[in-house]
Amino acid sequence: MPLTALLCHLLLLFFSFSLAFSHFIPSFPSSKLHPELINSHSSSSNGLYNTKFFTQSLDHFDYTPQSNHKFQQRYLFNDTYWGGANNNAPIFVYTGNEGNIEWFAQNTGFMFETAPRFQALLVFIEHRFYGKSVPFGGNREVAYGNTSTIGYLSSTQALADYATLIIDLKKNLSAIDSPVVLFGGSYGGMLAAWFRLKYPHIAIGALASSAPILHFPGLVSPYVFYDTIANDFRSESENCYNVIKGSWKEIEDAGKTDKGLKLLQKSFRLCKNYSSDALESWLSSAWTYTAMTDYPTPSNFMNPLPAYPIKKICEAIDKSATENKTSTFQRLYAAASIYYNYSASATCFDLDDNSDPHDLGGWQWQACSEMIMPLGVRKDTMFPQSEWSYQSRSDYCQFAYDTTPRPHWITTEFGGYHIHQVLKRSASNIIFFNGLRDPWSGGGVLKSISKTLVAIVAKEGAHHVDLRYSTKEDPKWLTDVREKEIKIIASWIKQYYRDLQ
Ligand SMILES: *[C@@H]1O[C@H](CO)[C@@H](O)[C@H](O)[C@H]1NC(C)=O
Ligand SMILES: *[C@@H]1O[C@H](CO)[C@@H](O)[C@H](O)[C@H]1NC(C)=O
Ligand SMILES: *[C@@H]1O[C@H](CO)[C@@H](O)[C@H](O)[C@H]1NC(C)=O
Ligand SMILES: *[C@@H]1O[C@H](CO)[C@@H](O)[C@H](O)[C@H]1NC(C)=O
Ligand SMILES: *[C@@H]1O[C@H](CO)[C@@H](O)[C@H](O)[C@H]1NC(C)=O
Ligand SMILES: *[C@@H]1O[C@H](CO)[C@@H](O)[C@H](O)[C@H]1NC(C)=O
Repeated sequence: MPLTALLCHLLLLFFSFSLAFSHFIPSFPSSKLHPELINSHSSSSNGLYNTKFFTQSLDHFDYTPQSNHKFQQRYLFNDTYWGGANNNAPIFVYTGNEGNIEWFAQNTGFMFETAPRFQALLVFIEHRFYGKSVPFGGNREVAYGNTSTIGYLSSTQALADYATLIIDLKKNLSAIDSPVVLFGGSYGGMLAAWFRLKYPHIAIGALASSAPILHFPGLVSPYVFYDTIANDFRSESENCYNVIKGSWKEIEDAGKTDKGLKLLQKSFRLCKNYSSDALESWLSSAWTYTAMTDYPTPSNFMNPLPAYPIKKICEAIDKSATENKTSTFQRLYAAASIYYNYSASATCFDLDDNSDPHDLGGWQWQACSEMIMPLGVRKDTMFPQSEWSYQSRSDYCQFAYDTTPRPHWITTEFGGYHIHQVLKRSASNIIFFNGLRDPWSGGGVLKSISKTLVAIVAKEGAHHVDLRYSTKEDPKWLTDVREKEIKIIASWIKQYYRDLQ
């Protein structure tokens, strides 16, 4: 697989990748508020939650002059169901991931639907450097400019933000004794689990959904991610798997001549002439994200998609074969259209689409500093072979940020080696949910560690499917997973109240 395509997959937890990352305004460091943020400072409501801002410390760990700078951190707040401070009613906190917190809140219906049962307050905290929680006065060009500013984007700082905000919020609400339960999916799930390990005095438990906390060097095979995707497709149809597997060479061959490039542009209805590398990367993104979001009901997380989208993609590939549209390109076009054109609104496909509607761009930096999650493709599978190389990651990060990643920092800070032995003695009250259709599940905790460190594994599940809004069409296994999670959370809260007396 060409380097650009590969990087695309190396660097995302949930989103794609743009190289445009160069200019910045030199005014370091500024803690002045951006005018927009001042205006939105008062809380505003959209029917799901109120929006608030908290003045947060830029650096929790040092006492140098610049570490005392502040920024505005956004959080969303819904007290409709809250039983109140007098009843010590619980507080459910979503630990925000690498993107706009509103997007995650809107895709975490489970918390809204569960709140009434527990009379819980709902709080969704945005991760620093994302959405509206950008330090340096909200000025992205400065905040993302170079390591002197973006260096403050790290998981440890983010967890300390959450700790600080939760304590202050409880104080303001006079709810010191209200138990806090954490929720998070994907990177947010990693943060929820790590928060429970690091700050057990602040949260009584965490639901860490699809949290690949073991996807770090030495802990997991780098092949597991793409192996899972290949198995997902293969489980739908052997033919579909083989068509995709055989397609890369045809695309590369076509990319070698002008005539071939024209054919690619025509076959895939591309807006302009693109290289075969660009097309490969575009297609592998579609297959990868479809595997992550292979939900049993229609969804609109990354892109609008039908229920069971892998099945639909494979049907498109297999069906166009029976209709004698035998060209591989036509089959792939039909399949890719399910991912990129389910809304039927695309006039042509723009492969350089660098739009980032959910504001996930900072993940590139995280993947160049701490989040070294090895990914490679073994020989003879659905994607072109590509070995994981720390060195190529490091070279890229030198080029993009003038920085060298620290591949072992995450396991040093949060652990991971011999996790079963370690955590059964030192931790409690975490649910690790994983759906085995999800390529990230290979880096998840798939076996229970103790009575209170519970792994819930759904064979048919995809990326944090349990956190989504329920629907009437939900299969029984999904309803059962949610019920089990609710029971466990109820037991944590009950035990907490017992201890409080
Ligand atoms: C990094 O960015 C800061 C703030 O924008 C600027 O003052 C500084 O000169 C930049 N450093 C380098 C090495 O470009
Ligand atoms: C809280 O969420 C519920 C359920 O979605 C909604 O009905 C209610 O209006 C929300 N409350 C606020 C204050 O936004
Ligand atoms: C708590 O109240 C203070 C004073 O009104 C306010 O500045 C701060 O932002 C509040 N904390 C949170 C988490 O909202
Ligand atoms: C299309 O792009 C390729 C490189 O991506 C280039 O070599 C080729 O000449 C271009 N063809 C046309 C017709 O513009
Ligand atoms: C498709 O091909 C099969 C054999 O390969 C043939 O029997 C069938 O008539 C063809 N269908 C059409 C619509 O051309
Ligand atoms: C997207 O789907 C619509 C409706 O089927 C179709 O008219 C349009 O040509 C498709 N766009 C592309 C780029 O294939």
